[in-house]
Amino acid sequence: MVHSRFDIKYVLAPLAGFTSAPFRLLCRQYGADLAYTEMVSAAGLAHGSSPTRQLMELMPGEGPVACQLFGSKPDELAFAAAEADKLHRFVEINLNAGCPMPKITHEGDGAALIHDPQLVHDCLVAIARETRLPVTLKTRPGPKPDQVKLFELLDAAETAGCAGFTLHGRFTSQMHGGEVHYDLLAEAVRRAKIPVTGNGGVYNPETAARMAETGVEAIMIGRAALANPWIFSDLRSAEPPEVLEAPERRRQLQNDAFAGHLANLLTFRDQLAANFPNDHVPTVDGFISVALHTHLFRYFNGRPGSAALRKRLNAIHTLAEVRAAVGELLANGR
Ligand SMILES: Cc1cc2nc3c(=O)[nH]c(=O)nc-3n(C[C@H](O)[C@H](O)[C@H](O)COP(=O)(O)O)c2cc1C
Repeated sequence: MVHSRFDIKYVLAPLAGFTSAPFRLLCRQYGADLAYTEMVSAAGLAHGSSPTRQLMELMPGEGPVACQLFGSKPDELAFAAAEADKLHRFVEINLNAGCPMPKITHEGDGAALIHDPQLVHDCLVAIARETRLPVTLKTRPGPKPDQVKLFELLDAAETAGCAGFTLHGRFTSQMHGGEVHYDLLAEAVRRAKIPVTGNGGVYNPETAARMAETGVEAIMIGRAALANPWIFSDLRSAEPPEVLEAPERRRQLQNDAFAGHLANLLTFRDQLAANFPNDHVPTVDGFISVALHTHLFRYFNGRPGSAALRKRLNAIHTLAEVRAAVGELLANGR
């Protein structure tokens, strides 16, 4: 059965540096059905890295979260899967075979795995041996358009016993831009015996409808959720674009999401400090300052006064200063 954009499942993609617990919780509050951790290094877990462990923290209320691992050594991935399983907090373990960043692929991880479907199979089997959770693969159609590996990868996932297959419809050579290959997504759905999740370039109801036409079971949203977490409810809404995009509505949503995000960040920082007493956890100001540069400044992009606010935020280092600067923008009715 082909789902429509109104009844399909919407999933928050893993975005390293962005989709930590406070943002996942926010997306959940706006209707995401499932979210993924940022990619967690299997080697990092095997070597006892504490920042890596912190990536596996969840906040109460997050709903279903899958743990994404990256690595290419079956024994390290097996260890990492056992560690993830032991936490009893994830609904799925996913293997990343799609990250194109050189620092990842130089180690043979991420998108480098696409060249070796047999190794992908072996990694998935090693993971599955250590957990009773569903195991899934997230990958791409191939390294470049004249080297389609998709069907070998799908076969590797299926023969390893995977419960799902997520396809980012762009080749590794495309990094994160350019055309999404809907034809390959549709062909993967036709051939697959397991559910396929479609990913790439979904940012509004039209692109979601286009992705849904491929027959995928679920749609994964990445960058379009940044500073726009209500996209999950908007994609299910029958309201016309002029209602969804109305400036007053957007302003209210931005204000609410900013406030909600900040609140989640503060709660999460305290959670990290409590759960990792022997580790370096940033101060409140340090924590907010990092989030300011990844997420928070985005909420006011394009609004009157946002350029000045952004300039000011660049020089800001404390929570009190952030609150004062944003408070002034809002008090001016912007
Ligand atoms: C900044 C950034 C970080 C990403 N981190 C991850 C990651 O940790 N794991 C992963 O599988 N994909 C990662 N991706 C890829 C996304 O999950 C997604 O496949 C890609 O952005 C395409 O979806 P979109 O067009 O909806 O953004 C990342 C992409 C970006 C832009």
